[in-house]
Amino acid sequence: MTLLPTVCVIGAGSSGIAAVKALHERGFEFDCFEASDRVGGNWVFKNRNGMSSAYRSLHINTSRERMQFADFPMPTSYPDFPHHSQIAAYFDAYVDHFGFRDRITFETTVARAERLPDGRWEVETDRGTTRTYDALIVANGHHWDPRWPEPAFPGQERFAGTQLHAHGYTGEDPDFFRDRSAVILGMGNSAMDIAVEASFVSKQTYLAARRGAWVIPKYLFGRPLDTLSTTARIPFELRRRTLQAAVRLVVGGMERYGLPKPDHALLEAHPTISDDVLSRIAHGEITPKPNIAELTERTVRFADGSEVEADIVVYCTGYKVTFPFLDPELIAAPDNDLPLFRRVFHPDLGGIYFVGLLQPLGAIMPLAALQSEWICDHLAGRYQLPPATELRADIEAERAAMFKRYVASKRHTMQVDFDDYVLAARQERRRGERRAALAGHRLPVAPAVPA
Ligand SMILES: Cc1cc2nc3c(=O)[nH]c(=O)nc-3n(C[C@H](O)[C@H](O)[C@H](O)COP(=O)(O)OP(=O)(O)OC[C@H]3O[C@@H](n4cnc5c(N)ncnc54)[C@H](O)[C@@H]3O)c2cc1C
Ligand SMILES: NC(=O)c1ccc[n+]([C@@H]2O[C@H](COP(=O)([O-])OP(=O)(O)OC[C@H]3O[C@@H](n4cnc5c(N)ncnc54)[C@H](OP(=O)(O)O)[C@@H]3O)[C@@H](O)[C@H]2O)c1
Repeated sequence: MTLLPTVCVIGAGSSGIAAVKALHERGFEFDCFEASDRVGGNWVFKNRNGMSSAYRSLHINTSRERMQFADFPMPTSYPDFPHHSQIAAYFDAYVDHFGFRDRITFETTVARAERLPDGRWEVETDRGTTRTYDALIVANGHHWDPRWPEPAFPGQERFAGTQLHAHGYTGEDPDFFRDRSAVILGMGNSAMDIAVEASFVSKQTYLAARRGAWVIPKYLFGRPLDTLSTTARIPFELRRRTLQAAVRLVVGGMERYGLPKPDHALLEAHPTISDDVLSRIAHGEITPKPNIAELTERTVRFADGSEVEADIVVYCTGYKVTFPFLDPELIAAPDNDLPLFRRVFHPDLGGIYFVGLLQPLGAIMPLAALQSEWICDHLAGRYQLPPATELRADIEAERAAMFKRYVASKRHTMQVDFDDYVLAARQERRRGERRAALAGHRLPVAPAVPA
């Protein structure tokens, strides 16, 4: 029997449990440390780890069909866009279905993961344990560390009302926005959901944006939009144009709603999905505004010089990609940018792998499962990476294409098209299997002989 590398998985959100399942089924010796008392990460509302960005009313915006793990479909009783509580229950059931809950060490935070001179990883937890592993799988999520406006707006410090980041919004207090004037900043999905929620009870809700976005509905032609045209065999540009035409036809131009005209075509920014926000604008319950220019004690002034009284400002300005347990000199993602081969493999460091660290047009979970199986194949010597020069050229080409296509923003540093990613991964894994066979299935990280 070949000795396999030992592995440490950090996090048991939807990405971490996909990794644990793959390792468990393939007979790896591993630990998975999870800070919380349960799996599901972001999808556990008020997660005791303090990291969940879910609010009371949150529903997924990628459809059930798109989000579910292929080998464990969501219950057919679920709606197309289930509530966060259903999603959390689904991840919980996944763990029991495949029987690996006892492989996860709960309520244990990885405080430090240090690369040793021999390439192995020393992992220290807040429980005072330290153990060395041959490989590390990082699945700590990338939507929990709030990115506040950078730099802060002039006057932020003297504003007498309430300022919060979307991460801190739970939607639990029905009176939070009641009869108050709220400014919601951003054009991503957090801003859409929170502005809509505020608009039902507030005195007035303003939606401020520094650039326009295409707001797309959850359904088109009676089907979840993300289940239409799901083949990578049709060229991307054709799929994009078809969708753009359909959205123009069904929704119309954003300027018609008083929103800024997007400075980009559809799918050149991460999708902003809402069935409700345009209707609330049309009802006069949400007033679009340009970016915030300044805050005074009681007001918010916008870039066009208009000024409104405000009691609450919610910054829906996105998240930072951080790895508090890693030495930032070794691995960090300044401005959310961490170049990786196919969003999994580090170009310089062997023995460290990332799961779920990508922003698909589509859902993360099936891609996390794919990545997990890929990593296991690699660790077992069944998949070999391309030579270093080829690997770097691949990363550069992928990044050049992404940065060319997407609006320049810290939210667009790891975008992938779901179906294209799956197809390209399949092809690359086949190539890597051939390389591995030629190399005699050599293990990429030699397991240390247990002491
Ligand atoms: C409001 C909101 C809605 C979203 N909706 C969708 C959607 O509809 N569809 C979609 O595909 N994506 C959506 N996303 C993206 C989201 O990132 C994924 O849904 C999903 O949560 C990713 O899972 P993950 O396991 O990578 O990260 P997380 O869910 O963040 O889980 C990370 C886990 O790692 C643990 N952890 C972190 N650090 C440590 C440590 N040092 N030691 C031990 N454990 C640690 C945490 O406790 C947590 O359990 C949404 C994001 C937000 C913020
Ligand atoms: N219902 C759901 O399923 C749901 C709900 C919420 C969130 N999510 C997901 O969670 C992730 C995070 O979404 P998010 O909306 O929180 O963040 P996001 O997608 O990163 O969007 C951040 C928004 O804030 C703007 N912004 C950032 N800094 C700014 C500044 N200094 N001044 C003005 N505007 C600024 C960005 O504009 P630029 O584009 O110009 O950078 C962008 O419009 C996404 O994957 C999203 O799909 C899903």
